[in-house]
Amino acid sequence: RRPLIALGIETSCDDTCAAIVTSDRQILSEVLRTQHHLHEPMGGIVPKLAHHAHMRNLPSVVQEAIQSAGLGEQGIQAVDIIAVTRGPGLAHSLGVGLNAAKTLAAALNKPLVGVHHMEAHALTARLTTRDPDYQPVGQDVSTLESGVPIGSDPYPSFPFLTLLVSGGHTLLLVAHSVDRYTTLATTVDDSIGEAFDKTARELDIPWLPGRAGGPGASLEEFAKSSCNPGRYLDRLPIPLSLRSSKSEMKFSFAGLKSAVTRIVNQEKAASSSGEMDESKRQDLAAGFQHCAVTHLCQKVEQALVDCHEQGLDISSLVISGGVGRNATLRSRMDEICCQFKYGGAIATDKMSSKEKKRLKRTSLNAATQKESGKAVRSVRVICPPPKLCTDNAVMIAWTGLERYQQGLVDPYDIDIVPKWPL
Ligand code: KG4
Ligand code: ZN
Repeated sequence: RRPLIALGIETSCDDTCAAIVTSDRQILSEVLRTQHHLHEPMGGIVPKLAHHAHMRNLPSVVQEAIQSAGLGEQGIQAVDIIAVTRGPGLAHSLGVGLNAAKTLAAALNKPLVGVHHMEAHALTARLTTRDPDYQPVGQDVSTLESGVPIGSDPYPSFPFLTLLVSGGHTLLLVAHSVDRYTTLATTVDDSIGEAFDKTARELDIPWLPGRAGGPGASLEEFAKSSCNPGRYLDRLPIPLSLRSSKSEMKFSFAGLKSAVTRIVNQEKAASSSGEMDESKRQDLAAGFQHCAVTHLCQKVEQALVDCHEQGLDISSLVISGGVGRNATLRSRMDEICCQFKYGGAIATDKMSSKEKKRLKRTSLNAATQKESGKAVRSVRVICPPPKLCTDNAVMIAWTGLERYQQGLVDPYDIDIVPKWPL
């Protein structure tokens, strides 16, 4: 049997996207038309402009995705399912994509799959990641651009943790299976991307031309030149730090951002020029980044402990979203997850009580795992390629395929769900 083919459509925010993806994990085509040039001069996304731009752009975006997919004579008829974002997102923008998808599916008599945008972000890693333990059998050596050999099962396996960090999302969740998620933490104020962007502006960090990633990436680059990254650490809070609020599974960045503003004002007032010199701004950028990343790390670490205690055998941590490009964030998460051995080490008398305590937390069920003969492994950190970490239709098509294969299909009269908890 040939692999299934899905057309995915995504119009939840300010990018008009369509893509064609197969169930053996090939991306046949991918088209994204951005609206940044329309919204940037307005200082933010204007829903009405987004709505009209989606209406203008979607037909040609879908046409291009179909034409460039190499579907042969059959064209759109070769597509087995139509997948589309139902929510969450901007109501009118969602409506453009959903209506197009419903009409296409009904006219072609194809199954329709409505997709939750955040579920799609979480499942993207299963399209792009190769199972590190996968052993190709016999002739199975064909590889895709992403390095995924055909035949390996989608990876990471369930359950896994997902950290979505971007301008729009700051979310930590457990993916138990296709269609079943638990939200562990979300932000009570700004998203982490907003915090990076506002801080970059506060510190007058020069925009690096031609660099992907926007102000957050410029801040990361700027902070690398810091000679004294610890200079302001005693004046910057680590939000909702475990020490002060152990059970608070929330993110918050407003307090950290205000602390940065306070320090900038104090430094300017104390300086004869009325400006904060560059080396101090670099130190403050590094301090901010350290605190923001530490905040995320503390919550992820607590989530790993909590999951163990609930008997959830977490295989991986998937990091997605624009802020996921941050190298400090990635390496700190790697450190945490590497220490998190399942059945790895056993406490010895030579260890200090602190070490034993830590080991107990991080290698729960050592005995059980040994008995069951399971391999010793750490929690793996997975970051899908940056292009697929941000909004795109590939993730919608892939999620459509995962849902369809679980028998999850929707009727042609489904509606948008602009506010949709996962
Ligand atoms: O996912 P994304 O590209 O778009 C939306 O949020 O829709 O995320 C953009 C956010 C921006 O706030 C940007 O400043 C931030 O991700 N960002 C970074 C880095 N690259 C992008 N933040 C910190 N470090 C980076 N290297
Ligand atoms: Zn998104």
